[in-house]
Amino acid sequence: MTKKVYVYRSFERFWHWLQAILIIFLAFSGFEIHGLYKFFGFEEAVLYHNIAAYLFIILIVFAIFWHFTTGEWRQYIPTYKNLSKQMQYYLWGMFKNEPHPTKKTVLRKLNPMQKLTYFGLKVLVIPVMVTSGLLYMLFRYPQGNEIQYLNIASLEIIALVHTIAAFFLISFVIVHLYLITTGETLTSNLKAMLTGYEELEDDDESETKKLEENK
Ligand code: HEM
Repeated sequence: MTKKVYVYRSFERFWHWLQAILIIFLAFSGFEIHGLYKFFGFEEAVLYHNIAAYLFIILIVFAIFWHFTTGEWRQYIPTYKNLSKQMQYYLWGMFKNEPHPTKKTVLRKLNPMQKLTYFGLKVLVIPVMVTSGLLYMLFRYPQGNEIQYLNIASLEIIALVHTIAAFFLISFVIVHLYLITTGETLTSNLKAMLTGYEELEDDDESETKKLEENK
């Protein structure tokens, strides 16, 4: 038996989609700055990249606040439990129509691989991206509070770190786009992140109750 459950709350969906748009835009403008192609022109690409970066930082601040005030941050604590089963599922289980090894519920909406990946993004890739980006900004546009101990050689390192982190983030986006199609149906994960609702196995009344309270 399945039941329509409210899994992703409105701020969560807003944060998810705005983050997706900003990351794709930052990647697009960033790789123009890197010299890969010409679209906006270098100067405008830098301007738009900076504006999107500020918006991204503001969004991150709100998202941190939301995760801590709602307690949702707990969903991202990595676990070894069922991690190998989940990997096996992605590697070959799903191609043999095997059932999902973990059950999705409101209080456990991320599978062990998602927990690990999203945790890595939150504590490593995004902080590296933001820190290297800010250092890059402060170095290139010193206004009073310039970072004086940085020299040209270290700017190169910052650019390299920023670009490597960008590759990680883009690889994540590509794999993520593929994996969203591997839910219960081809589009169930996508619909859930758009509407908030998803058809889940209905055998835990306490969770459903909590969810009604959180609406
Ligand atoms: C808050 C986050 C970010 C900040 C503060 C930031 C800031 C910057 C700055 C200041 C530059 C150099 C512009 C110049 O040459 O004057 C830059 C370059 C770049 N950014 Fe970002 N960025 C951020 C996020 C991102 C994201 C999410 C991506 C991609 C997914 C990205 C990809 C790039 C790339 C590829 C370059 C060119 C690096 C190079 O070749 O030197 N950035 N960024």
